[in-house]
Amino acid sequence: MRHFLSIQDRTKEELLHLLRLSRELKAVYKTHGRDTCLAGKVLAMLFEKTSLRTRISFEVAMADLGGHAIYLKPEDIGIIGRREPAKDMARVLSRYVDGLMARTFAHETIVELARYASVPVINALSDWSHPCQAMADMLTIQEHCERLEGLKLAYIGDGNNVARSLALACGKLGLALVIASPPGYELDEPSLATANNDGDGSARQVTDPAEAVVEADIIYTDTWVSMGQEEEKQQRIRDFQGYQVNAGLLAKAPSRAKVMHCLPAYRGMEITDDVAESEQSIIFDQAENRLHFQRALLKELMS
Ligand code: CP
Ligand code: NVA
Repeated sequence: MRHFLSIQDRTKEELLHLLRLSRELKAVYKTHGRDTCLAGKVLAMLFEKTSLRTRISFEVAMADLGGHAIYLKPEDIGIIGRREPAKDMARVLSRYVDGLMARTFAHETIVELARYASVPVINALSDWSHPCQAMADMLTIQEHCERLEGLKLAYIGDGNNVARSLALACGKLGLALVIASPPGYELDEPSLATANNDGDGSARQVTDPAEAVVEADIIYTDTWVSMGQEEEKQQRIRDFQGYQVNAGLLAKAPSRAKVMHCLPAYRGMEITDDVAESEQSIIFDQAENRLHFQRALLKELMS
């Protein structure tokens, strides 16, 4: 059974294949062609947390490929394991549908679903990682920079789920990532080590945002307060002062640098409105590519 739980689970060639397939399917989509490889197939989407992009892009992707998606919101499933164990949900749903995707708090919940499911399981974000986002990001970078290998990416902010998947994708696909975070919010050492030892790319942690952006082709940021961290909000806002992607920081980077954000963006916090709206920003191409990467992923896993 093939799942998509982490960037780490795939070889470089497999990731490049998914990116190629994304570009092919995007070209079909842009010329109003249709690929109905998932006709009659159903995807169940389990959400413990809210979503705009992930929910809609998966739902549209399933419809576009001829299949159907069923959205189970947090009120329907609660925290998985409280009403019934993940292992039961996985086995019951496997009798009804052809694929599962899940957005959870604990990463272990997704792993447990995959362990017991007899259909493919997709990680749609956990507290640990966000691999679909990282792959859509790689697709966007490829489109804007015409390559991946050798590019320099600066990630400014929290060493969180998005940063981790980005680091693993950079490691596999040959990009050099520099992460700038305040003390206490760095990406963990084992994830950095994996990114450095699992391909031609690299990932390095620094504290100074200016040092991170100095040669950057891409400047990336994410919220300071991820879903589930709402109680830490005020402390985090204090701790992340100086880690905003703003015009001052952009001035320290090469003028070619593009700005990325997985969204939702909190303007005035991790990014300023003028930077998010600037010519250098590619955040909406990035959001669109969630759809195109996921069409490729669903086709690969479920057709
Ligand atoms: N980037 C992302 O995953 O957005 P949503 O939380 O809206 O799905
Ligand atoms: N790090 C953020 C990403 C949202 C898409 C979160 O987990 O809330």
